[in-house]
Amino acid sequence: MKIVVTGGAGFIGSNFVRYIYRERPDWRIDVFDKLTYAGDRRNLEGLDENRVTLIEADIGDEQAVDTAVANCDAIVHFAAESHNDNSLQSPWPFVETNVVGTYHILEAARKHNKRLHHISTDEVYGDLSLDDPVKFTPNTPYNPSSPYSSTKASSDLLVRAWVRSFGVQATISNCSNNYGPYQHVEKFIPRQITEIIEGRKPKLYGSGKNVRDWIHTEDHSSGVLTILEHGRISETYLIGADGEKNNKEVVELILELMGKNPDDYEHVSDRPGHDLRYAIDASKLHNELGWSPNYTDFKEGLSQTIDWYKEHEDWWRPQKAETEAKYREIGR
Ligand code: NAD
Ligand code: DAU
Repeated sequence: MKIVVTGGAGFIGSNFVRYIYRERPDWRIDVFDKLTYAGDRRNLEGLDENRVTLIEADIGDEQAVDTAVANCDAIVHFAAESHNDNSLQSPWPFVETNVVGTYHILEAARKHNKRLHHISTDEVYGDLSLDDPVKFTPNTPYNPSSPYSSTKASSDLLVRAWVRSFGVQATISNCSNNYGPYQHVEKFIPRQITEIIEGRKPKLYGSGKNVRDWIHTEDHSSGVLTILEHGRISETYLIGADGEKNNKEVVELILELMGKNPDDYEHVSDRPGHDLRYAIDASKLHNELGWSPNYTDFKEGLSQTIDWYKEHEDWWRPQKAETEAKYREIGR
């Protein structure tokens, strides 16, 4: 088995590559990645180059995509512009990569008749109220809020259309908020951990009441592999681990785990259009494919993640100053 993993040098993609490397020792992996600010070849360090090859290319490059897809058995498509705050400053790269790039992946999968798994997000469903009794399910209507989530929703719709109109052998997964090693310091949890290491206060958007449904990235990987191997073609599966927490709780827990006063954070201005709550009902994945998460203790997973950032300052430090300079420009 040879798979192409687009975006395999980013946060979730590289964790998935490492997971497959360990769990499927007879598979070969071509990582297809543009190495944007969010991709890093160091995320693949230590992997045997006979099994894992990095193809540095853009999913907007039709020829490069065609060649990579022609030479594999299946594609797992993670590559995307992934950060909501960036999409509010500069939406075009999101349209280009998430929509047009996915179009090129689909056309290549159609031409070469290859199995495709498309990675998406729970944000395509919009947000829930804090007391909504019903979580997101695969039947929840699409209602995205931001340029990021609207381009991911668009990419999902393209996949559905290519399945129905052209018979492309695809599945889709929509996952909730991931945490774990190798996540860029622009994102919520690594930003707060590294702010504390640098001697500054964590930054909470608005009141901090917004809820995210946290899942360890390793559990996302096991969910994707389960769907790739056993999922029904044309189906959508939601991946989540019942990890709902509001942002204030998460910041306080990070401070506590790092031996600081849990109140020692600051409020900064809110994100425009900030989604209030995400929550995943993953029962289809549990009941139909027998998947379940391993990281059921968020405090334990968060503690391991904090340790990883403490032990890998050389990994995140080069990104940190530039990231914070961008946040200062927008007052967050
Ligand atoms: P990331 O920003 O850390 O990584 C994205 C990767 O894609 C990087 O390696 C980057 O270089 C690459 N890339 C970007 N544009 C490219 C292009 N045009 N051509 C080739 N490669 C390109 O993102 P992430 O957080 O790891 O997210 C990966 C996927 O998972 C995305 O599709 C995202 O929508 C989805 N997702 C993320 C989360 C989350 O919590 N982070 C949750 C659910 C779904
Ligand atoms: O739900 C899945 C999505 O989760 C993925 O599709 C996205 O790719 C991923 O980035 C993530 O989106 P969010 O916008 O939820 O993640 P982010 O890490 O940017 O923010 C998480 C929450 O924390 C959100 O409510 C905003 C808030 N926040 C964020 C930052 C960076 C803060 O309060 N302070 C911060 O400094």
